[in-house]
Amino acid sequence: MCASKYSPGLEGIVAGQTAISTVGKEHVGLTYRGYSINDLAEKSTFEEVAHLLLYGHLPNRGELDAFRTRLITRRCLPPGLKTVLEQLPASAHPMDVLRTGCSALGAMEPETVDNGQQQVAERLLASFPSMLLYWHHYHTCGERISTRSAEQSLAGHFLHLLQGQPAPDLQRRAMDASLILYAEHEFNASTFSARVTASTLSDFYAAVTAAIGTLRGPLHGGANEEAMRLISRFATPEEAESALRAMLAAGEKIMGFGHRVYKKQLDPRSPIIQQWAQRLAEAGGDPTLYRVSERIERLVREEKGLYPNLDFYSATAYHLCGIPTPMFTPVFVFARIAGWSAHIIEQRAGNRIFRPVAEYTGPEARDYVPLEQRT
Ligand code: COA
Repeated sequence: MCASKYSPGLEGIVAGQTAISTVGKEHVGLTYRGYSINDLAEKSTFEEVAHLLLYGHLPNRGELDAFRTRLITRRCLPPGLKTVLEQLPASAHPMDVLRTGCSALGAMEPETVDNGQQQVAERLLASFPSMLLYWHHYHTCGERISTRSAEQSLAGHFLHLLQGQPAPDLQRRAMDASLILYAEHEFNASTFSARVTASTLSDFYAAVTAAIGTLRGPLHGGANEEAMRLISRFATPEEAESALRAMLAAGEKIMGFGHRVYKKQLDPRSPIIQQWAQRLAEAGGDPTLYRVSERIERLVREEKGLYPNLDFYSATAYHLCGIPTPMFTPVFVFARIAGWSAHIIEQRAGNRIFRPVAEYTGPEARDYVPLEQRT
């Protein structure tokens, strides 16, 4: 009998080629189109990074200004989409709002030859924060907000719409760095989902809708929300330590820790977002929340040898920016649409439909039993 080639969760399987990013590559680490994540997070802006992912190069001044202007003009929502958002219940999860919003926009402004793939990508990049906050304000205070804003950055635009006024500079910078960190990560589950959908030659919106649905789960993007629910349970680091010891002893998973690729190495994005969380805490945020997070991190590392992934300190940072917990994974969407779009475009450029095979574990071949003879 042949040895099984099955790899649960496709671990270690090379499922395609990409020129977009490297993850955990020896001596190279995490790069977007060759640029190190450390340089991008420190020196760049999210809009430059989104341009890099979508168009393959860092923009010059003129290209960046034009890109920002296009994004600003694409923040408005069509009336039909506002109606759809109003019809969704207040109790809906914000990820469901984005998933539905994306799908509805695809029906209202379909991808055509004139309205090509990069234009759709820019439309979604510009309008996801608008969709979420239009729905949010309509259902929390009955207000039909304007989603226009002169804010130059997506980070500033989102925080402004959320808070109803321009956000403090530190929050805007933390948010911008976080969007850079979340923008792309090779063949993760949601990106793979987008590529599988794109590989059938389905439309751009369908691929992104599939990706949003995949990102929603707590083993993927939903981990930042679960991490926040965990951290916020504790009033002191000591309380967190004893609870975490009990959780680990009971074999529970700690959300925001572990990674398929960074199994024995640090997620390079984690120390960057941790620094931002610390700065926000020191600047008048909640010092206890940060200290609890640090204690959880230390304990899980010492007891389980697991490092935090990007989601863990992102939770602390987002909370300190005043973002409600159910909006954490949607923020991931605002950023990852850049990576998803780059992958959809790349998949289409060298397409072959995804169609793997399965190892059969069912019954041996057997004779059909007519209905009247079945017991
Ligand atoms: N807490 C506790 N134990 C964990 C863990 C965590 N967060 N992540 C992994 N482990 C343990 C597993 O229990 C398993 O232990 P075992 O070998 O004794 O059974 C071992 O580490 C391997 O984990 P596994 O689930 O097989 O790894 P994976 O590569 O299939 O899954 C994740 C990777 C990210 C899905 C997984 O680490 C996880 O569920 N993390 C929490 C969710 C999360 O933060 N997701 C965001 C990812 S960016």
